[in-house]
Amino acid sequence: MEGPDVIACEQCPELVESRSQIVDGVGPADADLLFLGEAPGANEDEQGEPFVGRSGTVLDEALQDAGLARDDVRITNCVRCRPPDNRDPHKGELANCRGHLGRELAVVDPELVVTLGKVPSEHLLDRSVAVTKAAGDVVDVRLGGQGYRAVVSVHPAATLYDGSQRETFFGTIERAAEIAGVGGQDDGGQSNLGQF
Ligand code: URA
Repeated sequence: MEGPDVIACEQCPELVESRSQIVDGVGPADADLLFLGEAPGANEDEQGEPFVGRSGTVLDEALQDAGLARDDVRITNCVRCRPPDNRDPHKGELANCRGHLGRELAVVDPELVVTLGKVPSEHLLDRSVAVTKAAGDVVDVRLGGQGYRAVVSVHPAATLYDGSQRETFFGTIERAAEIAGVGGQDDGGQSNLGQF
């Protein structure tokens, strides 16, 4: 089963202007891990797939390190259209797209959502989040009347600007894979859940 598509949404006039296409989530509709980004950038807008630019390369590397392939996980964004000049999505745009995200989460019903950066973390946790400090925190969240478990992460792009964030990002993805019970468990198959 494929996830719910956002067909011809025109709720955000500025985004309808700036997008060349709507970028929906990709990956299995029954994935255990779901990665939530902010909004498509130029590469994503061109190719119609989330996280295919430089941030996507970092995400792919971290997944590989955790024993996962891109095709094993669901990857989506809070907002599905590219904002002009790569600005952050406005509150109203996040609100307009929230229903799409809620439906996608309800279908996929992942074991764990990984919020990639400040915008998705604050959107899902519904409070301000200092992501560098909170990276790796596991929280219970609600969206569309349903509860989910989430882990806060820095955005993969942060590793490109600040090399010290690489360890934080890769460590969070590895931890997320362990919590969700997917990927390469190099501990002889024992669960590490107790430590969380
Ligand atoms: N950054 C995001 O938040 N989402 C993408 O799809 C690409 C880069």
